[in-house]
Amino acid sequence: MEVVILLGGPGSGKGTTAERVRGRLGYIHISTGDMLREAVKNGSDIGRKADLYMKRGELVPDDIMIEIVVERMRRGNKDSKYLLDGFPRTSEQATLLEKSLADENGEISHVLFLDAPSELLIKRLTGRRICRECGINYHVETMRPKKEGVCDACGGELYQRPDDHESTIKNRLDVYGRQTESLISRYKEKGMLKRIDSSVAVDNIVNVVVDILEG
Ligand code: AP5
Repeated sequence: MEVVILLGGPGSGKGTTAERVRGRLGYIHISTGDMLREAVKNGSDIGRKADLYMKRGELVPDDIMIEIVVERMRRGNKDSKYLLDGFPRTSEQATLLEKSLADENGEISHVLFLDAPSELLIKRLTGRRICRECGINYHVETMRPKKEGVCDACGGELYQRPDDHESTIKNRLDVYGRQTESLISRYKEKGMLKRIDSSVAVDNIVNVVVDILEG
């Protein structure tokens, strides 16, 4: 089992990059944010608990997160390759991921840190729109759909995530600084971290990521 971690602040492009890389290289994309949003939509126990934190831009407790990620990875086999988008996000999650991989003879092959300045992250998040049906991401300025408010791919309605309003975004950036940023030094010290400039065009980021993963 091979795991690639995509690390980076809210709006750094983890989801966009993972979606484009996954099909090209045969990875399974695990987005903890998407899994939680699905749980909220379904009204499950986990979804009801998670909703309270997500609305405020706070992190969902580690025990819930570890349970859903480990359960998802168990559905694969020893040859599965995962792109983790949004996990781990705390030292506790990183430690438990390493422990769980050791138990399954798996390993973290790369940690890719998508780095962009906060002003750009705020612009990307306030302008993001998502298709209610198929989940594709758009941006009101940089990735506009052909028809406003309508998904090019499936015709579904585009909506704004409730946590993409400016006040919540500021809290998410703050939470990232307090709880997640320390993972950069953790993986740097282990010699696993690759920094990627994610302020450039998506195609350029994807090419860099593919080169690293293929190399
Ligand atoms: P999550 O959904 O993971 O949110 P996030 O980390 O804040 O990341 P985003 O999905 O907002 O951004 P992204 O980096 O994927 O950027 P994207 O590619 O979409 O988590 C949401 C919440 O769930 C958390 O706040 C927390 O409550 C909870 N949660 C999730 N995981 C958790 C965990 N492990 N532990 C505890 N709680 C957890 O791009 C953003 C926009 O920019 C898009 O519009 C896109 O089109 C555009 N864009 C992207 N790249 C480019 C580019 N290169 N050029 C121009 N535009 C671009």
